[in-house]
Amino acid sequence: MKKILVTSLMVISILSADSNITIIEKASNIVDDIGEKSSNIIESIKDTTTKLLDDNKTIEIDAMSLYNKCKGCHGSDGKIKALNKSPIIASQNVDDIISKLKAYKLGELNNYGMGRLMTTQTEDLTIAQIEALAKYISKL
Ligand code: HEC
Repeated sequence: MKKILVTSLMVISILSADSNITIIEKASNIVDDIGEKSSNIIESIKDTTTKLLDDNKTIEIDAMSLYNKCKGCHGSDGKIKALNKSPIIASQNVDDIISKLKAYKLGELNNYGMGRLMTTQTEDLTIAQIEALAKYISKL
């Protein structure tokens, strides 16, 4: 990249009959400038990535504390059959968990005769909380 830039600027200098040294200096400055700008861009990408990773952690912490009230029945690892009725929820597909929790929230799901109980567990959750919880449970 640097070679191409320097070469092309040298060609321009010859064509314009300007002093080669001045043009090469200019080329060199331009290349340095590009280098500095690229490293600024790289720094800002790094910052953004770190911030996104932090945000992700925050979602996980929220979900973890939201899951506290589910532990009693489903187990801290999600591997207990709640009240001997519910299937194991750990590692279920995220979208499946989301649609079940949304349906419980609306009082529209009752697979094992205990849907009402799950409605009271989910009616106060926001959709964003349901999504965070589902993501968390799917990774248990
Ligand atoms: C008091 C016990 C209890 C608590 C607390 C509880 N659950 Fe449940 N959960 C159940 C029962 C029982 C079922 C089966 C309901 C039915 O009949 O459809 C169930 C069903 C589910 C299902 C569907 C499983 C499947 O594959 O059909 C999910 C997902 C779930 N619960 C997640 C949660 C989450 C998330 C929380 C916490 C916000 C929670 N539960 C709190 C007892 C509980």
